[in-house]
Amino acid sequence: NEKIGRTMPVLPATDETIARAAGALAAGGLVAFPTETVYGLGADARAANAVAKIFAAKERPQFNPLIVHVPDLETAEGLAEFGAEARALAAAFWPGPLTIVAPKRPDCGIADLVTAGLGTIALRVPAHPIARELLEKARLPIAAPSANRSGRISPTEAGHVAAELGDIPDVILDGGPCERGLESTVVSVVDDTPTLLRLGAVPRREIEAVLGHSIEIASEDAPIASPGQLERHYAPQTPVRLDATQVEPHEALLAFGPEVPEGAATTINLSAKGDLAEAATQLFAALRTLDESGARAIAVMPIPNEGLGEAINDRLRRAAQAR
Ligand code: TXA
Ligand code: MG
Repeated sequence: NEKIGRTMPVLPATDETIARAAGALAAGGLVAFPTETVYGLGADARAANAVAKIFAAKERPQFNPLIVHVPDLETAEGLAEFGAEARALAAAFWPGPLTIVAPKRPDCGIADLVTAGLGTIALRVPAHPIARELLEKARLPIAAPSANRSGRISPTEAGHVAAELGDIPDVILDGGPCERGLESTVVSVVDDTPTLLRLGAVPRREIEAVLGHSIEIASEDAPIASPGQLERHYAPQTPVRLDATQVEPHEALLAFGPEVPEGAATTINLSAKGDLAEAATQLFAALRTLDESGARAIAVMPIPNEGLGEAINDRLRRAAQAR
């Protein structure tokens, strides 16, 4: 089971390299691939040995279950029980950046390690053409967390994956920067009351519009409901200071909007025109760049807590809490 491209796992995604990546998955290997949200580190979700390699590569605790990526709703319904609200959400947002957690079918064939022994499974139908082609060619459910070391910032470019994981993946498919830049929104439809397990690329109000009622975020002290949210997360090495309206010369500035305080060592503006979708796309790459800038701290300007701003502020809060 030789590694494909051992020294240079980053390959531009073409029909040929995607076919190679599909072969690597079928052989029990690991493939990093772009989705519209962030890059994923994938393995055959039915193969416990392959899935175990994901946990080892990420140094991820085994109580934290993985998302299974499938080509369509029909495949998803073969793995989990979908009620009316789950179907409505799938119809509205798939393919796209929504993950649905639903009761797992006992005979679904997914390795127990993927679901951390839970009776539920997280499913997502990605929209990215490269992810879709990989699913089509591999013809297997792909378990894939974000392709970063556990607790670090999710990768939105192939180079980030290489920096996080080196040559651990058999292949890193390069599809350029991710369009959304924030992980999928995770919704649990396990019982009668859908809950938000993770804020993400689909804003809360869009989900509420489909459900026809409001949806709450699962409380952080309900660990079984959302194990991933307990993890130390989105952690740059550099301390992060939120709601900065002024900046010190030793600080790097993560700016937002047209009016930016002067005097920072380095400044990256997430969106000079104050556009939240643009800011989401830039966020993780900007945090990585500022983290590597040598500044003593990263000061972050306030970002409106509406629409995608809710998920952006969630990630920034975790980044600031990390130390
Ligand atoms: O955008 C995304 O969702 C990316 C791309 C690659 O698809 N994937 C991703 O995976 O962010 P990961 O593993 O970094 O985050 C998955 C989240 C974690 O918070 C995990 O705890 C939660 O989904 N999760 C997975 N299965 C679950 C389950 N059965 N019940 C509750 N939460 C679950
Ligand atoms: Mg992750």
